[in-house]
Amino acid sequence: MGKIPYSKILLSSNRLVLRPYRVSDFKRCKTSHNSRIATENNYDTPIPTPASKDLIEFKERLKRQRINGKDGHLFIFGVFDKKSEKYLGQIDIFTINSQLQWGNLGYHIQNQYFGKGYATEASKLALTMAFKHLGFHRIEAAMELDNKASQKVALRAGLIFEGVRKKFFPDDGGVDMKVFAANAIDFR
Ligand SMILES: CC(C)(COP(=O)(O)OP(=O)(O)OC[C@H]1O[C@@H](n2cnc3c(N)ncnc32)[C@H](O)[C@@H]1OP(=O)(O)O)[C@@H](O)C(=O)NCCC(=O)NCCS
Repeated sequence: MGKIPYSKILLSSNRLVLRPYRVSDFKRCKTSHNSRIATENNYDTPIPTPASKDLIEFKERLKRQRINGKDGHLFIFGVFDKKSEKYLGQIDIFTINSQLQWGNLGYHIQNQYFGKGYATEASKLALTMAFKHLGFHRIEAAMELDNKASQKVALRAGLIFEGVRKKFFPDDGGVDMKVFAANAIDFR
């Protein structure tokens, strides 16, 4: 899967740039991670790449991301402010089933930047990337029933609500998830 190599992907919108992380992003990721604010949102936990403890760990993560992106089973992208190049968050797309060209979209924004529409803007770019550049046919996003911000992002990015998967996650006796999806045919 993948019409253009993962390492060459770069998409931009009005305010954002989406691309694989680079070693030179280490400082801007660290600055952004250190500027996170206190939160009571259960889903808002630091993600590994910007939270890397040092440059060695950061480089190791990028190396794995390049291998995964080349293999076509996991595509990880940093989200950056187009003007300042500040690190804002991350988009990931992993392959659920390669024969069906079916992938899952994940989004995470550093909490000091919540509520500015960044996740919606980045997810729209991610869908363009998934359908036009990565060769996916179906992209879905699934989240807990009370993750309202994530549901709003999914809808505003153009995904359609399909239903609730009962006890989808095995944790805690089974966690229900809402599923939203889009496909390449309708996206065109
Ligand atoms: C979900 C997430 C990516 C949204 O990022 P964001 O950049 O703030 O998203 P946007 O600004 O594009 O849109 C969020 C919308 O949800 C709304 N929202 C936020 N919290 C909400 C809540 N508790 N209830 C209802 N709406 C909520 C915001 O007000 C905004 O809507 P508005 O523009 O109409 O005001 C961010 O909250 C996040 O990273 N959360 C932690 C990780 C996560 O949950 N990822 C999704 C996993 S499936």
